[in-house]
Amino acid sequence: MKNKKLFLLLCLAVHFVNAQKKQPFLWGVATAAYQVDGNYQVDGKGESKWDFLTNKVGITQFTIGEKQTGNVAINMYDRTQYLKDIQLMKELGVNAYRMSLDWSRIIPDGVGAVNEKALAHYDLLFDDLLAAGIEPLVTIYHFDYPAVLLQKGGWGNPEMENWYYNYASVVINRFGKKIKNFITFNEPYIEFFLVENMLNAQNNKLPEKEYYMSQMQKAHRQLIANARVIKLYHDLKLKGQIGIVLNVNPAAPWDEKKVADQKAADFQDVLINGLFLDPLYKGKYPKMALDSLAKYNPTFKPSTEDMAFIGANKPDFLGINFYAPAIVKGEDSAMSLKWLDNNPDEVKSNVGPVRPEYLYKMLMRLKNDYGNPQVIITENGTGFVSEDVKINGKINDPLRTDYIKRHVEWALKAKKEGVNLFGYTVWSGWDNFEWVSGYTKRLGLIYVDFATQERTPKQSFYEYQKIIKENRSF
Ligand code: FCB
Repeated sequence: MKNKKLFLLLCLAVHFVNAQKKQPFLWGVATAAYQVDGNYQVDGKGESKWDFLTNKVGITQFTIGEKQTGNVAINMYDRTQYLKDIQLMKELGVNAYRMSLDWSRIIPDGVGAVNEKALAHYDLLFDDLLAAGIEPLVTIYHFDYPAVLLQKGGWGNPEMENWYYNYASVVINRFGKKIKNFITFNEPYIEFFLVENMLNAQNNKLPEKEYYMSQMQKAHRQLIANARVIKLYHDLKLKGQIGIVLNVNPAAPWDEKKVADQKAADFQDVLINGLFLDPLYKGKYPKMALDSLAKYNPTFKPSTEDMAFIGANKPDFLGINFYAPAIVKGEDSAMSLKWLDNNPDEVKSNVGPVRPEYLYKMLMRLKNDYGNPQVIITENGTGFVSEDVKINGKINDPLRTDYIKRHVEWALKAKKEGVNLFGYTVWSGWDNFEWVSGYTKRLGLIYVDFATQERTPKQSFYEYQKIIKENRSF
């Protein structure tokens, strides 16, 4: 009897110690450097790809008919500003903040001297965040890089892999002890197959499908660079983790009864999701993708060593950005961007059809088909043109509020069913510069007056605050 009691006490003590050790679920908000920082010529920052695209190419002119840039953005590089934003994050109740570093600040010419001022800035920002009880989730590369490297071909140049490795080593060596969660890359699919495809549509000399498949070389290079930096991080035996972020858009047929729609959806799914998930977790590209490559880009032949290297250096966690499924029609060509236009919803969001159950399906798929990796939702959010309007000093955004509530519910259902989900971060904390859409798409929980930099929390901010409070511990 006495022994039994002792045994029970011991079990309780072990349970208590384990519970203490467990990292709390991460609730956060997300941003990326070019979209929020502004101050584009401060502290020795070099010109970046997006500085060049917005200021010199005038890229938003093609999409929104007006030249807009991230030169000022929402001024978050400025410490006076970001300290106020940290206060807002505290009020919201988040314990994580996903942000990205700007390569063109840290190594302005891409490969040469390291800019100490930029490193000191990040160091202080991390300290400020940590002092507020907010864990920085640091994306090393989020679409942007020094413009001089773009002029040398960017990811089209085989050297890019080494340039990135050099930059990432600087970051990891400097911040590896302070930062517990690093992210190598953000959404290679969006960078190469969506944005670059869009940009090249006007002056592309190759036919559409050939161009699409030619982009594979760049994506492959980024996967190798990802594996090299993961290996470096592991070799250094640091006490955190490193992962990669993919956009996931599970594909579904427009009309379930149509075989052609289903077939097109299957292929689209491979090109968006399998193309990255399979090499990362299974060390090979999906057969359907390889078949198309053989037809449209026969020069692309990934070596067995490359694939083994990618497979052997898996990320410690996978970050997923989920906004919407890809809804596909039979006549669509998967090797194009046609799926982006398919949205059967009556009230259309900025980011595609609202289908939170697909987030659940994707999470279960990661569990069942990809070995149940550690997962964090690194982006999820939306915007509706009609509701981001300030009326009497208030922004009521019931559609965004409902979107976030329902996505969290489906995500937590997946967690209960065994998915290794350790966090959720909303895109975005603040309205900001939305790439080719400039300032025309608002996706924040906090409204930003772009002329005055004034911040106003929206209704969705308070809803998310409530969600966090109710689900702080599991
Ligand atoms: C994702 C990007 C992020 C943001 C959202 C809306 O594709 O990673 O920077 O623009 O879309």
